[in-house]
Parts: sequence; structure tokens; C-alpha cells
Amino acid sequence: MINKYNLTKTNLQGFNDLRSDYNNGFKDWKVLYTLMCYSFNSQYRFNNDHQYNSSFGKNRSEYTSTTESKLKTVYGKLKNMDIVFMAQNFVDFDFSDFGKNDFVYCDPPYLNSTANYNDDKRGFESWNKGYELKLYEVLDNLNEQNCRFAVSNNLKSNTLIGDWINRRGYTIYNLNNTYYNCCYNKKDKSKIDSEVLITNY
Ligand SMILES: C[S@@+](CC[C@H](N)C(=O)[O-])C[C@H]1O[C@@H](n2cnc3c(N)ncnc32)[C@H](O)[C@@H]1O
Repeated sequence: MINKYNLTKTNLQGFNDLRSDYNNGFKDWKVLYTLMCYSFNSQYRFNNDHQYNSSFGKNRSEYTSTTESKLKTVYGKLKNMDIVFMAQNFVDFDFSDFGKNDFVYCDPPYLNSTANYNDDKRGFESWNKGYELKLYEVLDNLNEQNCRFAVSNNLKSNTLIGDWINRRGYTIYNLNNTYYNCCYNKKDKSKIDSEVLITNY
């Protein structure tokens, strides 16, 4: 595919041709993955009609030998593991039989933050107060079931989470991550934020 479309980190036309073919029916995970490798910030994004619309990652994004070796390592490990991938709303997931031998990690969108999976413009519902409170309910139930959990979040943008943590006595680990290479729309990326990991153990 890379040769056929002559994909490089400078060939905009090749990227546009592959993106157009993808949107016109050339749908396969390998096409989507390749598009992502050559996209701005190596990030995939869709419009309201579910058409792929990430722009070209000029001079920056490409499929390299390092990318290939990481892909092979992950693929090699996954194919020998008993693992199931599911894409569904967490609200519809049944956690009722989780218990002390299970662990749940959540990396939800941060309430009041901006990210392109969270702007209500991609044909997906964005994260809101209702989802935030529902997540607390799910996690509180897991806690009652003696299941351990960890949640990534941000104390600065999220105005609800502090109360919930204090009320339930959960543990906060400060991560102080500068997120230099992340895709959030922060004006000052070097500013140390209030990134935290919250656990119930
Ligand atoms: C902070 S990102 C997680 C990034 C992920 N950990 C990774 O490394 O790629 C938050 C994710 O939550 C997903 N999300 C938003 N609302 C959701 C919902 N109701 N149920 C499940 N996932 C949801 C978004 O699509 C987004 O991928």
C-alpha cells in the first residue's frame, strides 16, 4: 500500500489519494492504520458523516522501521494471549461479576477538556456531566464488589472529581506529566498540569 500510493512524509497527493479511496469504500484496518501513520499527530479523526478527515502529517508522520518493529512486537504478543477487544459504550458493559481478582483501568475523556474525540462533531456523543457521574457510579459499584480500579484524570479541568474522591476516600497519585507530544488543544504545553491517577487501593 505504501509503495502503491507512494506514501512519504512529504507526498500530500499520495496521502489524499489513499484517504479518498478509504472514504469511497477501501475499508480495511490496514488502510485505516496506514492513513493514521501519515496523518497529523499520527491521529485518526472523522467528520459527522464518519468520513476520515485527518489532515496530512507533513514532514512529521510516516511509517518507519521503528513503527514496524513496534507493530510486530504488539501483534506477536496479542496473538498468543487470550484477550477480547470490544468497542462499546461503558454504560452498556456488564461489570456485575467483577470481583477481587479483577482490575479495571479507565482512561475517560476529561470533563471540560477539549480533544477531537470529545467535541461532539465526529458523529459520536461527547463526554458530559451525565457520563462523568455514571462513571463514578460504575466505579463505586466495583469498589463495593472489592474489585480494584485505577482512573486517569485531570484535577484542573474536572470540577466534579475532587468531591467524589474526597467523599469516597480514594487515593490520588500526582503524575505531573507535561504531555509534550499529546493532541489536546492546550495553549501552553509546557505548563505542568494536574494529571492524576486515582485508585481505590
Ligand atoms: C483519553 S482517551 C483514551 C485514550 C486511550 N487510553 C489511548 O491510549 O488511546 C478517552 C477515550 O474514551 C472514549 N470514550 C468517550 N466516551 C465513551 C463512552 N461513553 N464509552 C466508552 N468510551 C468512551 C473516547 O472515544 C476516547 O477514545
